[in-house]
Amino acid sequence: MHERSELRAGIVGSGFAGRFHYEALERVYGMECRVAGVYSPTEENRLRFASERGLQAYETLEELMDAVDVMHLCTPPSTHEEMACAALAAGRHVIIEKPFTGYFGDGSDDFDGRSFDRERGLEAALESVRRIREAERNSSAMVMYAENWVYAPAIQKEREILEKTGAQIVWMHGEEGHSGSHSPYYGIWKYSGGGSLMGKGVHPLTAVLYLKQVEGRARSGEPIRPASVSCRTHLITGAPSYHDAGHLRTGYRDIEDLAAIHVTFEDDTAAVVIASELVLGGVHNWLEVCANNHRTVCNINPNTAMQTYNPEESQFKDIYVVEKIGTKQGWACTSPDEDWFTGYQHEIQAFYHDAANGRAPESGSLLGGDTIAAVYAGYLSAARSGQEVEVPRVE
Ligand SMILES: NC(=O)c1ccc[n+]([C@@H]2O[C@H](COP(=O)([O-])OP(=O)(O)OC[C@H]3O[C@@H](n4cnc5c(N)ncnc54)[C@H](O)[C@@H]3O)[C@@H](O)[C@H]2O)c1
Repeated sequence: MHERSELRAGIVGSGFAGRFHYEALERVYGMECRVAGVYSPTEENRLRFASERGLQAYETLEELMDAVDVMHLCTPPSTHEEMACAALAAGRHVIIEKPFTGYFGDGSDDFDGRSFDRERGLEAALESVRRIREAERNSSAMVMYAENWVYAPAIQKEREILEKTGAQIVWMHGEEGHSGSHSPYYGIWKYSGGGSLMGKGVHPLTAVLYLKQVEGRARSGEPIRPASVSCRTHLITGAPSYHDAGHLRTGYRDIEDLAAIHVTFEDDTAAVVIASELVLGGVHNWLEVCANNHRTVCNINPNTAMQTYNPEESQFKDIYVVEKIGTKQGWACTSPDEDWFTGYQHEIQAFYHDAANGRAPESGSLLGGDTIAAVYAGYLSAARSGQEVEVPRVE
């Protein structure tokens, strides 16, 4: 099949994710891909983002949509569903940043994420997933779920091992942790749809769900899906007994800052994922795969591709070392190309070639939907002190 000669990208959101999407787009090779412009609601931010990159700033979402083939949703999770459905209805491919979608409350200003009915949350999150998948089914365009862990080189190497050796994964464990997210929307359930499990846990969680899909497809042609979860969540920095030494972010309004979720799959194998805002020393993102014929440790970040020793903090003041590192003094796992290890550029590269070739992405709406089903089944389980909860089937 011939690739389309050029695809035009539109970025929605001018914050952290908007920036790394733009940088990844600049590195797409093997086809023509052009960033047509950006839309973001705050005029000042939109104009700054556009002028720093020589892009056109669009005043409305609709004008941006008219000018592009692929929409990048780099916006808070609460906005994903509406914009994704609008883009699909207009026949535009849509790249949805993690987390895919969720439950963001009842619309009231004083909605409190600590006290709502978790069964209702699970139901509503699944309804949102279904609406996005329905919009995709009715569209000529497709959903690409921007979970960079799926495309991280270490996870894709593990995919190759699973496919070529016919391995069975018997269990996995993984973690995403650091000292607290920067976004002002993070920490407020009605924007983020949850806490650490939703914001951080989805990375390793999607990766474990993905690898079981890969394993199933390789051995029987069918993905192995999640069956049930048990989960615990905590707000450690909000506890009266917490001693704040000033190194971890605090002040989360109505979310958890620590979560542990145990997933059981259809084939009775298991995975354990930890998500935490309580980890010093830079991001701690890793996944270990224990299979019946091999064992793999994927160090997403940090890893030892490069290590530096810096005797004096000030020497490295203009040098980026590694995400969320608290100090640049002493030994560090300095990342020579962090976006490469985390999979940002690989996911955008893959999405554009998939879109050009009409090929289903490795990370699409089913994987995004299964992740959300597992997360909200997890929140229901946590409300029941860790009791096992079935993961509803996303069709
Ligand atoms: N894959 C990753 O590693 C990674 C890392 C960071 C963030 N993210 C995800 O990216 C998304 C954005 O997070 P961020 O850190 O860039 O947040 P941010 O706060 O830095 O930026 C959010 C942007 O969205 C814009 N926005 C808010 N509401 C909007 C609306 N209704 N319509 C259009 N634009 C709107 C804001 O003005 C802002 O420009 C989230 O889903 C987040 O989980 C992913």
